[in-house]
Amino acid sequence: MISKLIVFNWKSNPQTLTKSLKLAGLVDYKNIVVCPPFIYLFEIRNKLSNAAVGAQDVFWETGGGPYTGEISPLMLKNIGVKYVIIGHSERRRLGDTDQVINKKVRVAINSGLKVILCIGEPLREGSKKTEKAKEFIKNQLFKDIYEVSFSPRKRRNLIIAYEPVWAISTSKNAKPDNPEDSAEIASFIKETLNFSLGFSPKVLYGGSVTSKNIQHFLRYNEIDGALVGGASLKENELKKIIKIVKK
Ligand code: PGA
Repeated sequence: MISKLIVFNWKSNPQTLTKSLKLAGLVDYKNIVVCPPFIYLFEIRNKLSNAAVGAQDVFWETGGGPYTGEISPLMLKNIGVKYVIIGHSERRRLGDTDQVINKKVRVAINSGLKVILCIGEPLREGSKKTEKAKEFIKNQLFKDIYEVSFSPRKRRNLIIAYEPVWAISTSKNAKPDNPEDSAEIASFIKETLNFSLGFSPKVLYGGSVTSKNIQHFLRYNEIDGALVGGASLKENELKKIIKIVKK
């Protein structure tokens, strides 16, 4: 049984449906969420019996309309997609501002999707570095969830992925965070949200997670799971990660 939540984010990969179905077949367990590109969601959803599927982004109008190229929350829901990643640092780099992210979080939560909201500081340097990171994260978090209403039923639909941008494998000189620091920040995120919203969501860690380090993060009670990018595109890594988290 997998007790923590493990999310695989394939970004704009793989390039064929065949390969994505093969990867998905390796991870069909409860508490696993596979986030392929939009175009593969339907087929992967049909293939999986235990794992859930998630989209990597969503548009901010619930029911669609004149928005060429956009995917609405209802379209996702109607094909059985349960989760959506919002605010990934790569989307922020491509132009998603906190205001845009806030609109997306709002409609996705209202539509009943489970939102994996990505937050994280761009740099961690200088003295008092975790304190500075916390300040940045708090600010970002409040902008991203501004005026989102969480009815008791929807509370569990908010999941935070703490992804320090510098730790994401595609960043320059990326390295995974020190698990102890991530656990401290995860606990800070829970306390902050508990104070302002009255509940603490699950907090995942993401950033250069591999089969070599995943257990060091999951060991902490404050960390409820992991968001895995690059490593989830390699069959061997996927198999190893599943073996570790199934224990
Ligand atoms: P990474 O990506 O595991 O390749 O660092 C994580 C992410 O971008 O979500």
